[in-house]
Amino acid sequence: MFGLNRARRSVAAALATTAVTTTALLGATAAVAAPQPIVGGTTTTTTAYPFMMQITDASGNQFCGGTLVAARKVVTAAHCMAGETTRSVRVVGGRTYLNGTNGTVSKVSKIWVDPDYTDATNGDDVAVLTLSTSMPYTAASYVSSSQTSVYAAGTTARIVGWGATSESGNSSDQLRSATVPIVADAGCKSSYGSDFVKSDMVCAGYTSGGVDTCQGDSGGPLLIGGVLAGITSWGNGCAEAGYPGVYTRLTTFSALVTAQVNS
Ligand code: ARG
Repeated sequence: MFGLNRARRSVAAALATTAVTTTALLGATAAVAAPQPIVGGTTTTTTAYPFMMQITDASGNQFCGGTLVAARKVVTAAHCMAGETTRSVRVVGGRTYLNGTNGTVSKVSKIWVDPDYTDATNGDDVAVLTLSTSMPYTAASYVSSSQTSVYAAGTTARIVGWGATSESGNSSDQLRSATVPIVADAGCKSSYGSDFVKSDMVCAGYTSGGVDTCQGDSGGPLLIGGVLAGITSWGNGCAEAGYPGVYTRLTTFSALVTAQVNS
C-alpha cells in the first residue's frame, strides 16, 4: 500500500505542477481550490460520534482512529498496530479536537491483531484493543457475519476521522466526517487489480474522487446506517478520481471481533 501511495504521489505532484502552471497562465483571477476536509467532508464532534476514538502514542499524538464497540473494546486496523505494544499506545474517547485535553484516556491491556495479517493490501486488516479503563461513551454496534447485503453498490456510507484533508496535507484538528457511496467489487477490482481482495475489502468513493479518507483516518469507522461495517484501511493517494478508499469488509471478520469482545 505504501509503495502504491508513493508511486502515485509523484504523478499527483506532476499534475499539481501542471495545474499551477495553467492557473498562472490564466491569470491572477483564477480560483484556487479550497482545502478539502477528511478530504471532502465537514467538521463534527465526538458528541455526534461518541464511539469515535483517537489512537495515540504515549505522548498523546494521534496516528489512527478506532471504534468503541464495548466499554473496554476498540476495533481498529491491524496496520495501525504495526510496531506498537501495549505500552506504546493510548486510546482517547470524548475528545473532538486533537489539541484538546478533555475526555477519557485509557491505556491498552491487550492488542489482538488478526493472525493472518501481513499488509493492508493483502487483507485481514483488523485489530481489537482491550482497554484498561472503561469508556463512558455509547459504543457502536457492528455488522454480523450474515449482513453481507449492506455493501450493495451505491449504498451511502459515512466515514469519520482526524486524518489529512488533502492527499499531501496535514491532519485536521477537529474531527470530520463525510458520506461516500459503496463501490461495486468489480469497479474496485478494475482500480486496484490483485491488491483488491474481495473477501476482505470493500471500496467506497465517487468515480470522480473528491471525497475520501486519508492518512491518519486509518482504523476509523465506515458506518452504514449508523452501524460499523468497515475499517479505514488503504487507498491509492487520497480522493483521486478512479481510486476509491479501501475498507476492511467487517462482515468477514465479525465473528473474530465478537470472540475478542467477549474475551
Ligand atoms: N493508510 C492510511 C492510514 O494509515 C489510510 C489511507 C486511506 N486512504 C484512502 N485513500 N482512503 O491512515
